[in-house]
Amino acid sequence: MSTGFKGKVALVTGASTGIGRATALLFGQRGAAVAVVARDPVKAALVVDEIRAAGGEAAFIGADMREPGDIAAMVAQTVKRFGGLHCAFNNAGVNGIAAPFHEQTLAEFERVVQVNLTSVFLCMQHEIRHMLGAAGGVIVNNCSGAGLIPAPELPHYTAAKHGLLGLAKVAAKEYANRNIRVNSICPGVIDTPMMQAHLGQDSGTIDALLAQLPGKRMGRPEDIARAAVWLCSDDAAYVSGDTMVVDGGLMAH
Ligand SMILES: NC(=O)c1ccc[n+]([C@@H]2O[C@H](COP(=O)([O-])OP(=O)(O)OC[C@H]3O[C@@H](n4cnc5c(N)ncnc54)[C@H](O)[C@@H]3O)[C@@H](O)[C@H]2O)c1
Repeated sequence: MSTGFKGKVALVTGASTGIGRATALLFGQRGAAVAVVARDPVKAALVVDEIRAAGGEAAFIGADMREPGDIAAMVAQTVKRFGGLHCAFNNAGVNGIAAPFHEQTLAEFERVVQVNLTSVFLCMQHEIRHMLGAAGGVIVNNCSGAGLIPAPELPHYTAAKHGLLGLAKVAAKEYANRNIRVNSICPGVIDTPMMQAHLGQDSGTIDALLAQLPGKRMGRPEDIARAAVWLCSDDAAYVSGDTMVVDGGLMAH
């Protein structure tokens, strides 16, 4: 086990599946105590068990990102359980129902913005409040290529992810002199349950997508996990307010 995060506490939201799961596992491998934040205790327990089986330390923290009280409790419980909070990967998100812009409902718009943007604002507030009272910390928000370019028929997702980049940049500026770094990752097309649901069962759709990708493959959750953990590491000590695109060259122009 590499021990770059020995003595550090890392919190990961949406940690029971996909990119969050891979990032929680990697933090565990690197020696951090990991708060595995999720709604589903059964799936989360598998991640906790996997980290412990590899010699790491982890605990499940239940939280629904639609509930402000859960988010406050998530940070408080992490600090109580592990004695601190040094790194936070705000990753939980939903894709939203795809539909032409003019047919989207207000309810669906508000649902996607609440989970993907408002919840991250609240996560950051609670994380920063703790970090201000400690020696600082690092926050990484999981954004999307849709934070930089539009995803047609997903105006809610696009708006929320564009907004996330703004949140990270404001916080990076405000807290640079308090030893708190804040960055964003924009994944490209990553093979996770969310992407599988988005693509559906149509192999023609998947083949057409793969043909568009520069490396002819989707990214793996681990590709994003390595970027997130690096941004949280001391190797990235002077990186803040940045937007890191991890998409295998998809958006290069
Ligand atoms: N997969 C991709 O290609 C891709 C691309 C760009 C960005 N992303 C972003 O990556 C993040 C993780 O997605 P993923 O691809 O790993 O898919 P995923 O569906 O495996 O992960 C999303 C996680 O968020 C959790 N979540 C959703 N709503 C929640 C709520 N209300 N409260 C608590 N948790 C909630 C889910 O339970 C799940 O664990 C998302 O923010 C997504 O927008 C993914």
